[in-house]
Amino acid sequence: MSVSFLREFLRDPLTVAAVAPSGARLADLVTAPVPRDGDPLVVELGPGTGAFTAAVQSRLAGRGRHLAIEINERFAGPLAARFPRVDVAVADARRLPDLLAHGGHRQADVIVSGLPWAAFGASTQDDLLAAVTGALAPDGAFTTFAYTFSRWAPPALRLRQSLSARFEEVVTSRTVWANMPPAFVYFCRRPRIPARLHDLVAA
Ligand SMILES: C[S@@+](CC[C@H](N)C(=O)[O-])C[C@H]1O[C@@H](n2cnc3c(N)ncnc32)[C@H](O)[C@@H]1O
Repeated sequence: MSVSFLREFLRDPLTVAAVAPSGARLADLVTAPVPRDGDPLVVELGPGTGAFTAAVQSRLAGRGRHLAIEINERFAGPLAARFPRVDVAVADARRLPDLLAHGGHRQADVIVSGLPWAAFGASTQDDLLAAVTGALAPDGAFTTFAYTFSRWAPPALRLRQSLSARFEEVVTSRTVWANMPPAFVYFCRRPRIPARLHDLVAA
């Protein structure tokens, strides 16, 4: 187990919300939509100690761009040192559309989330999902994971409903039993056009 991960959990349990980093099998599944060719822009939310970062970098194999947004600077510093090809921003993931605009980036092709959705209240979940759909290309993919043991808890059910409200396609993976704790992945595609933008398009 990563000592720094456990230490950060003890320091701020509601933001880290896990006692250990995700395992390689979950990382492989979460990052599956990263294209094997071209120069995609991949955004990662809540990278922590880099379980998904390593998998994204391996799939990119030197291509494209990889922006990682981590709110905890004690995670972000070592992450930036370990992955020099990754742009690590110390920021709240709610600022994602701003960060893309100010960095001169286009919309993301893939957004991969390690955020602890079950630890967030309804308005934080909403703000974060609005940031995701506002930053994702229309043909892009968004993936995030949840722990199987909390699948039926109210925040997890709320996340499932919100994903369906914000994406036309939401596919749930099998459970990754090898992960500790076991987890599953949501694969989301075709972000729904926000109502205001829809009005402008229809006008
Ligand atoms: C459950 S850990 C997952 C870490 C890593 N992705 C993994 O799977 O091992 C959640 C991570 O999200 C970060 N985080 C929580 N809220 C955040 C926010 N609003 N913006 C950016 N990062 C956040 C935490 O600091 C932590 O690194």
